[in-house]
Amino acid sequence: AHCTAIVLAAGQGKRMGTKVHKQYLELAGKPVLYYSLKAFAYSDVIDEIYLITGPGEEEHCRREIIEKYEIPKVTKILPGGAQRYHSVWNGVQEMEEEGYVFIHDGARPFVNHEIIERVFQEVIHHKACVVGMPVKDTIKVVDDNEFVKNTPDRKSLWMIQTPQVFENHLIKGAYSMLMRESYINVTDDAMVVEQMLKYPIKLVCGSYENIKITTPEDLDIAEVMIARSQK
Ligand code: CTP
Ligand code: MG
Repeated sequence: AHCTAIVLAAGQGKRMGTKVHKQYLELAGKPVLYYSLKAFAYSDVIDEIYLITGPGEEEHCRREIIEKYEIPKVTKILPGGAQRYHSVWNGVQEMEEEGYVFIHDGARPFVNHEIIERVFQEVIHHKACVVGMPVKDTIKVVDDNEFVKNTPDRKSLWMIQTPQVFENHLIKGAYSMLMRESYINVTDDAMVVEQMLKYPIKLVCGSYENIKITTPEDLDIAEVMIARSQK
């Protein structure tokens, strides 16, 4: 089956708060986005990669990341949009109807071959899969005044990572429907499938290392994990 990875790097990194957007910050001398792309570029499962960058950053990414580090399989570099779902939509529209798509946050540099292989094996059976891990902390639902409403059973709670992997025609259908809605509230791709198609989504184990670089302390954790992997 033909497999495309859509790697998202069009965000502004507001929670990180650095002048340079977080996907371009360096870990052990190389940009976060380099690591995220590399996992897909050198995976036997993946045939091609669409990189989604901030509008106007396409050429910079081509020169400073794809060419500089000789990353193979990148067939398209496309501009993203204001929200993550706009950026995904710009990639999803370019895909063929056949095959599978791995939608991945460019800010998740610790995805690896095992995760990509594991989720690929599952998506063949289930058509819609997301990578995640059981939560470690107790999670509480709170009201607008920050009082506890209730505490869901921890055993039923998973934190959701990427890649999120779908049959192409299924995710294309779900996103086409979403883009016709007047009010949109989604934070990941599975939510689009949940809301638009009510299609069952299978959870696949990722890893506790597959963190998203979101706030400054994530960079310190990431440096430690990179240093350990390069030993
Ligand atoms: N992303 C994107 N287009 C957007 C928003 C986000 O391609 N309009 C990408 C980011 O670059 C990131 C991934 O989606 O790789 C996950 O999003 P998030 O962690 O929220 O990144 P940012 O939106 O950049 O950060 P923040 O929400 O703190 O501003
Ligand atoms: Mg964001």
